[in-house]
Amino acid sequence: MMQTIGTGTGSLRTFGDWALRQMGIRDSVGAAHVALRRWGLAPWRPLVPEESFATCIDAALDRLFAADRDHQFGDYLEFGVSRGTSMAAVFHVLRRRGIDQNRLIGFDSFAGMPTGSEEEGWDAGAFASPLPLTRRHLRAKGVDLSAITLVKGWYSDTLTAATRANLTMSKASLVMVDCDTYSASVLALRFAAPLIRDRAVVVLDDWGWRAADGQPGQREAFVEFLTDNPTLRAAPLPAYFEHARVFLVERYEPH
Ligand SMILES: C[S@@+](CC[C@H](N)C(=O)[O-])C[C@H]1O[C@@H](n2cnc3c(N)ncnc32)[C@H](O)[C@@H]1O
Repeated sequence: MMQTIGTGTGSLRTFGDWALRQMGIRDSVGAAHVALRRWGLAPWRPLVPEESFATCIDAALDRLFAADRDHQFGDYLEFGVSRGTSMAAVFHVLRRRGIDQNRLIGFDSFAGMPTGSEEEGWDAGAFASPLPLTRRHLRAKGVDLSAITLVKGWYSDTLTAATRANLTMSKASLVMVDCDTYSASVLALRFAAPLIRDRAVVVLDDWGWRAADGQPGQREAFVEFLTDNPTLRAAPLPAYFEHARVFLVERYEPH
């Protein structure tokens, strides 16, 4: 049963009940808040810590350029955009560094986590942010939308060689994997692997998730990625919070 919200008047409750049913949610006030946030009717809670994330990315790029002063910066790839907190933060970090020729490409269903995510510890539909609201948020954050490409769809459909070709993708220098589950992270890292041409910073936002349950998560996805790509090696860099990991990934030619 839905609980009464606010005044508890019959009409509000009836309207609230109807609105939540339209959104497919009517079990709790918590769910109501989630739905209101999704539709831009309540403040969005950032999903990454904006300031420490931006500081960390900036420091990681210092390390990238320290390793390669003449690094030709490729695209920023983001797997898990949601409302766009990390996308906006990266946009401003890059612009402050004078990096403005590259693209920022974000991949998301914009319908939240896929069906089946429950088996990997997340609710289906979690973090859903309809694309127009993500665009509105990015604009409000001062992001130049002409620099951003947002690819909507499930990763099983969008993270393909055809997408790499259609978007004429040839190189990535910064990769943010914030799609939470092991299965989505595997797809994201496989997609990104051939685009890491010389060096790239790779960020994983959900390292060790479910490790305590003995279930695979981003850590296992990253280990698989390195095993499958023996010419890549990864050096850890400082991260922005305890569950995140940041690596400088380098491609080398074995002797
Ligand atoms: C934690 S949120 C990303 C948060 C975002 N980086 C930010 O700063 O707000 C995870 C996102 O991954 C997306 N996602 C997870 N698995 C996906 C899949 N298989 N296909 C498409 N999108 C997926 C969800 O839709 C969700 O928006």
